[in-house]
Amino acid sequence: MAIILGLESSCDETAAALVTSEREIRAHALAGQEEAHRPFGGVVPEIAARAHVDVMTPLVEQVFEESGLSLSDIDAVAATAGPGLIGGVMVGLMTGKALALAGGKPLVAVNHLEGHALSPRLVDPSLEFPYLLLLVSGGHCQLLLVEGVGAYRRLATTIDDAAGEAYDKTAKLLGLGFPGGPAVEHAAKGGDPKAVPLPRPLVGTAEPHFSFAGLKSAVLRARDSGRYASEDIAASFQAATIDCLVDRTAKALGSLDAVNALVVAGGVASNQAIRDALEALAADAGLPFIAPPPWLCTDNAAMIAWAGAERFGAGLTDPLDIPARARWPLDDDAAKARGAGVKA
Ligand code: KG4
Ligand code: ZN
Repeated sequence: MAIILGLESSCDETAAALVTSEREIRAHALAGQEEAHRPFGGVVPEIAARAHVDVMTPLVEQVFEESGLSLSDIDAVAATAGPGLIGGVMVGLMTGKALALAGGKPLVAVNHLEGHALSPRLVDPSLEFPYLLLLVSGGHCQLLLVEGVGAYRRLATTIDDAAGEAYDKTAKLLGLGFPGGPAVEHAAKGGDPKAVPLPRPLVGTAEPHFSFAGLKSAVLRARDSGRYASEDIAASFQAATIDCLVDRTAKALGSLDAVNALVVAGGVASNQAIRDALEALAADAGLPFIAPPPWLCTDNAAMIAWAGAERFGAGLTDPLDIPARARWPLDDDAAKARGAGVKA
């Protein structure tokens, strides 16, 4: 059995966790930064990086204390090395390098997206490769065939905004506050999903790519028309988003020969209405549906420690001079989505 320390700091959550190769979470700690970013209605990279510096070391001390373990007890240090806001990524990666050096432990540089992609295997030991993963977060909206540790085939991506970004922008447009995803989900519960006619971008097209920019513009027009209550716009936006996610995922499923499960991960996967819709799709396809519990869907360090455990188990460790990367696709060979710009 191996014990892995995981560190996460790629966006606005600072986190540390100790996880074993036997799927035991010995301790996990997380510090959010909502209050610091709320006045700006979004994550401010410089503020985020400084906040990670303030709390990363105390969180590491906390997980060692809670677990009764010390640096000498662990087998490797896993830290997110990208993609993400570079100042923040550097804080976690440098802390990981320092601990690895001080303790004489191997370093595992984890791709944050791989953390999300493998997190369902932390909670469900029966989940075998290959599986179809819908990865929906603030920065990414992708369909990936997960064939093994480090083996990802990107089947689709967004040609503009990510799903989480669309939630955050909708919340901002409707004055629902920050962070946007949970605020829109909450408002949608009190609204009529059929009240506002909204587009379903790319639905029905041959390749399973995503697009949310047009939906966001339609939300803006609906708001400015003054004809609809915020709850109705939120509910209609969520219904349109779900239709897009389900249609695109169904399209990808249809193109695959054999997968063992439909899996969803990333912050948006904590949305109950989205989970319900995907579960129904999986049932129609005769596949198990697996979604990590909500706290493991949003950013955390347990998923980084677990990805570290999977990589360490496969003999994949990294040199101490490995760089932090703002951009780091899971599938370097993936073709760009048609119409995709150069946006990060
Ligand atoms: O994975 P994550 O925590 O960070 C990134 O790696 O991006 O995802 C954050 C995203 C944000 O856009 C947030 O609004 C969205 O996940 N999110 C949600 C919900 N909770 C978080 N979106 C919809 N419904 C939710 N309940
Ligand atoms: Zn994430």
